[in-house]
Amino acid sequence: MIAARAPGRVNLIGEHTDYNDGFAMPMAIGAETRVNFAPDPGAVLHVAALDLVQDDRFDPATVAALPGGGWRNYVRGVVDELIRAGVAVPGGTLTLTGTIPQGTGLSSSASLEVALAHALLAAAGVAWSALDIALLAQRAECGFPGVRCGNLDQIACAATRGGHALLIDCRSLALRQIALPDDLAVMIVQSGVRRGLVDGEYNTRRAECERAAAVIGVPALRDADDGMLAGVRGRLDDVAWHRARHVISENRRTCDAAEALAAGDLVATGRLMRESHQSQAHDFGITVPPTDRLAGLLDHAIGAEGGARQTGGGFGGAVVAVMRAGHVAAVRDAVNAGYRTPDGALPLISVETPADGAGIIAR
Ligand code: GLA
Repeated sequence: MIAARAPGRVNLIGEHTDYNDGFAMPMAIGAETRVNFAPDPGAVLHVAALDLVQDDRFDPATVAALPGGGWRNYVRGVVDELIRAGVAVPGGTLTLTGTIPQGTGLSSSASLEVALAHALLAAAGVAWSALDIALLAQRAECGFPGVRCGNLDQIACAATRGGHALLIDCRSLALRQIALPDDLAVMIVQSGVRRGLVDGEYNTRRAECERAAAVIGVPALRDADDGMLAGVRGRLDDVAWHRARHVISENRRTCDAAEALAAGDLVATGRLMRESHQSQAHDFGITVPPTDRLAGLLDHAIGAEGGARQTGGGFGGAVVAVMRAGHVAAVRDAVNAGYRTPDGALPLISVETPADGAGIIAR
């Protein structure tokens, strides 16, 4: 029996920058996915999703996408990509279980893909680097499920380190581990607005960014600056122009936030996170009134030493905030007093310690 795990992730800053070849800075969270695998060469693969009480059965050698297959296509996609990479995937029994809430922007799907790849590679007796596993998992998500995602989520789940945030250069794949200050607390508040049916919006944003890069005349928005953007004001449609302005400013904010965090400067980090939220709201168009309210409430309760922003793909999900550890109780009270989910419930709040990236836990 092989057991593997991969954490979920929260993106501290750097949103919708990954597929523009830019920068992002996530950290791993305590919630995770676990995969157990009992190989049985010659048998089919039987996959049991314990939390959903659902299963799937297929022959790895002839794996194909399942129309409307949901979570099954993440599993099938990983198996397909491993086989394409020449890895012998045996049959057997896979059991999946996890604690990452789905549809909240905390990467339950990337975590599943990365944990699964670890388990199947271990069964095949091959060792891959964390980055290679992450890139395979990204291809798997783009393949059968059909989301044209970037590489942020999978790299975060695969390559983070306990106690650290991870600055990712999504083009060069250079990784910088940033030790978090001891008295910093990272809080995640669920807005209760589930992201749903937004893959179309995601792909639209990506197309708008590509349109902007083409008109500016750069390979990706990573290569553009404010001057270039000003130069295409009359030639680029207004929507794509604002999308590009978000990406260009968000890349700068992410690099600045990495320096600020490394220096323990919570005032600068907080300001950059607040600016990131505003840019997501006004230029990128991916926040919703409940996450705007929640971010505002958190900012007010936190004061100058820290800040909040919607995190993840957008259109709801979670808000992430950083603050001094000593402020957590008062901020939690303020959120509980001032925010209700669309269903009228108290929001789920967690305070996170950066976890380790994925790995094998038993074999
Ligand atoms: C989703 C995608 C990532 C990234 C974020 C936005 O989580 O899977 O690749 O684009 O949205 O930053």
